[in-house]
Amino acid sequence: MHSLPHISVLPGETMEQLQPRSGGIYCDGTLGAGGHTWQLLAASAPDGRVVGVDRDQLAQRTAKERLGADADRVDFVHGSFEDMDKHLAGLGIEKVDGILLDLGVSSMQLDRRERGFSFGKEGPVDMRMDPSQGETALELIERLPEAELARVVWEYGEERLSRRIAKRLKNDAADNKLTSTLVLADSVSACIPAKLKHKSRIHPATRTFQALRIAVNRELEQLERFLEIFVDLLAPGGRCAIISFHSLEDRMVKRCFRELAKTSNLPPDLARKAGERVHPICLPITRKPIIATEEEIQNNARSRSAKLRACKKVSQ
Ligand SMILES: C[S@@+](CC[C@H](N)C(=O)[O-])C[C@H]1O[C@@H](n2cnc3c(N)ncnc32)[C@H](O)[C@@H]1O
Repeated sequence: MHSLPHISVLPGETMEQLQPRSGGIYCDGTLGAGGHTWQLLAASAPDGRVVGVDRDQLAQRTAKERLGADADRVDFVHGSFEDMDKHLAGLGIEKVDGILLDLGVSSMQLDRRERGFSFGKEGPVDMRMDPSQGETALELIERLPEAELARVVWEYGEERLSRRIAKRLKNDAADNKLTSTLVLADSVSACIPAKLKHKSRIHPATRTFQALRIAVNRELEQLERFLEIFVDLLAPGGRCAIISFHSLEDRMVKRCFRELAKTSNLPPDLARKAGERVHPICLPITRKPIIATEEEIQNNARSRSAKLRACKKVSQ
């Protein structure tokens, strides 16, 4: 593996949950720079395979280059993990032994000013993970009514000043002022009182940028659809590991895994009659979410908010 455009979070912990083995087939739904895929390939050598999915064509190119000869054991797919069922069917794969999602954006995406993810770098107000389709952040701000924009900033960014920010952004967009990420960051910053700015350790536009990015990329909807389909794609004994960085995502994953483990309180024959589940479909294999060690956080600040949960399919 060559240089490091992105440092993978919780690498050892993730492999411990997925337990890759030779001959296994795995799907990395968020290929990114290929760091986790590389580990899956190494642990499943010599003949394990990985289907590497990413919405960003930059990820495909970077991962392919970094993986070198190991890329021969990867099927690269440009698309969303919400369509993982279709991607696998397109490759003639019915079931896989493990699935990984490492949500959010990569350092490569953040670092490229032209992608518009960073409040610290001058770029277009874009933020699309797949720049080949969909609405940019500027188009989203222009389209959403003020109250809806405020809801997005509040819910996805947990920003208390969401109403004030939404009003300002709508006005600035109407005056064609939101010409770059730096202008957008200044507009948001102007809504935050000085004493709050001094108190906070993060940039005043952090929460609003996060909220816009989540909305532009329909991140929660995509995760929701994935959670509806992944279990049918796992072979019996197959594992799914999900690394999330936002409390809303972690809650969705936790609820889904809990739901799949549920069985009826009724005796088996009565449960069957009532159409209730006698055996669990999946069992969680992480009782609590796994978080990064202090040492990892020192080396990779992005790992600070990472939460890893995993489950194992126990039904046929
Ligand atoms: C945090 S990075 C993954 C890094 C990777 N695990 C590594 O070790 O290099 C997240 C990647 O997921 C991609 N992504 C996010 N949401 C996606 C979705 N719904 N479908 C496919 N890819 C997605 C992003 O484009 C980004 O490249």
